[in-house]
Amino acid sequence: MTDAENVTEPADAATPSEPTKLPKIRLIAKPAVTPDAPVDSMWELIGGRDTFEKLVREFYVGVATDEVLLPMYPEQPDLEGAIQRLTGFLEQYWGGPNTYSQERGHPRLRMRHMPFKVNPDARDRWLHHMRNALDTLELPPLYDAEIWAYLDRAAHAMVNTFEE
Ligand code: HEM
Repeated sequence: MTDAENVTEPADAATPSEPTKLPKIRLIAKPAVTPDAPVDSMWELIGGRDTFEKLVREFYVGVATDEVLLPMYPEQPDLEGAIQRLTGFLEQYWGGPNTYSQERGHPRLRMRHMPFKVNPDARDRWLHHMRNALDTLELPPLYDAEIWAYLDRAAHAMVNTFEE
């Protein structure tokens, strides 16, 4: 008898038997919310339109005092149009109504900033006024950090020249 033949198995192991009944295991965890339930957007979480408009109005209070940024605004000293456009864009980005795109089309922000000299100095000034504005909202730190990370990244992406 070879070693292979010597391997014995229980008689019923080779014959097909009733399929083994396994306990039913839920492979996909049941989501906490049904798929079609609305997920809170940052827009909702921090107070919707009023909060975004406050942020942008505070930001433009700073811009209005800025000798580098203010002259860039085509309609200055009237900043109301710019206030409405930035508010609408940020609302849309953070999950609010998409009025901005209905009125202005695709944001194409880098392209829209090409006419302006956005060098590192302009970027840092923009961020400085935005930081001050965000502080006035006194948001919970995690929300503040998330919004700030976005604004910081977006402002860095907007730089289109390194000329002084
Ligand atoms: C980095 C420095 C930046 C400078 C110097 C700058 C400057 C400007 C200027 C001069 C305008 C034209 C004003 C107007 O007529 O609306 C403008 C428009 C705008 N900016 Fe900026 N910007 C900067 C960064 C950003 C960033 C980071 C965002 C978004 C997070 C942003 C969003 C917008 C929007 C939505 C508009 C209106 C676009 C349109 O619909 O025409 N900007 N910006």
